[in-house]
Amino acid sequence: MENFKASGIYSKQAHVHIPEGLYEEEHGRKGFFGKVSHIYHEHPPVNWTNLEGDLKPQQQPPMFGDQLNVNYFQPILRNKDCVINIGHYTVSFECFFRNADFDELYFIHEGTGRIESIYGHLDYKRGDYIVMPRGTTYKLFVDTPSKLLKIESASEFEDPTRGILGPNAIYDQTVLESPEVAKGSEQNLQEYKLEIKRLGKITTVTYPFNPLDAHGWKGSVYPYKLSIYDICPVMSHRYHMPPSAHTTFLCQNFVVCSFVERPLEDKKHGVLKVPFYHSNIDYDEVLFYHQGNFFSRDNIDAGALTFHPQGIHHGPHPKAFKAGTDKEYTDEYAVMIDTRYPLEPTEWFTKNENKDYWKSWM
Ligand SMILES: [Fe+2]
Repeated sequence: MENFKASGIYSKQAHVHIPEGLYEEEHGRKGFFGKVSHIYHEHPPVNWTNLEGDLKPQQQPPMFGDQLNVNYFQPILRNKDCVINIGHYTVSFECFFRNADFDELYFIHEGTGRIESIYGHLDYKRGDYIVMPRGTTYKLFVDTPSKLLKIESASEFEDPTRGILGPNAIYDQTVLESPEVAKGSEQNLQEYKLEIKRLGKITTVTYPFNPLDAHGWKGSVYPYKLSIYDICPVMSHRYHMPPSAHTTFLCQNFVVCSFVERPLEDKKHGVLKVPFYHSNIDYDEVLFYHQGNFFSRDNIDAGALTFHPQGIHHGPHPKAFKAGTDKEYTDEYAVMIDTRYPLEPTEWFTKNENKDYWKSWM
């Protein structure tokens, strides 16, 4: 390791046997896969008594309540690489849709339905990720009210490399589902409207036939589905894996990671079970809580979201260390979006956020 230096009291393995009475901070570059130092503090860096300015850690209470208009995608955070939206759909899309600005990734928080696309149909249910390539014509049909997270990306959603884990790690390719050719189910209507989004504006095209009219297709551009419940987490009983080990989709300047249920690290090896304190200085960090008991943070429920901007520390809440000591398993599921460049909260975000979240470490 080039230029590696050490000084004073430290642990030989990161996150393991942290010196008694000290608190470990990870000061890392490039998210969790760049150069890194660990600092051993006398006080947790989140033990502030006041915080003023833009860098407050931010939180949304469960987002699918009355504060959210139904049947509409509400942007909540954005930068030039991605837009994070949430939607509560109680009825099907009114029109066919084609996004000419962004590739799209749906995460189904709740609900069932079907996406009919020019490539065929994909049923969806709770826990599904659906990748929709830019330019695909499709329509979403709701069976039961559907709570959705939709990430729009300026670049394609790609697989992370598996490296030394080999191609069958994390999930086997056999769990991916892609559509078989099928026509749109709506037939014999007078007209069919297709909305195309380009530069944020909508162009509406009317056809006298259902635009989902393909009799066949071939190639490597098509929508596909992956369930978060099919993800096999990378883990070690002796080392708390960094979030980057849980990467599900790689895009230009951001990643999407999935945290899924797993056994916790083994107490007898002195391993830290809760996330270490960090200010991932090169990335903004967004976490959407899908299901389970989020024991490292107080008062976080399913459907909530946290936003930790670059430059300010975050880490477990005070009660989490205690709660984690004897816990052997975590049942939590969450989706993380880490962005290289700062995200801007939208007006809706600012209006609905829990303004006191930053006090939750005090
Ligand atoms: Fe974090």
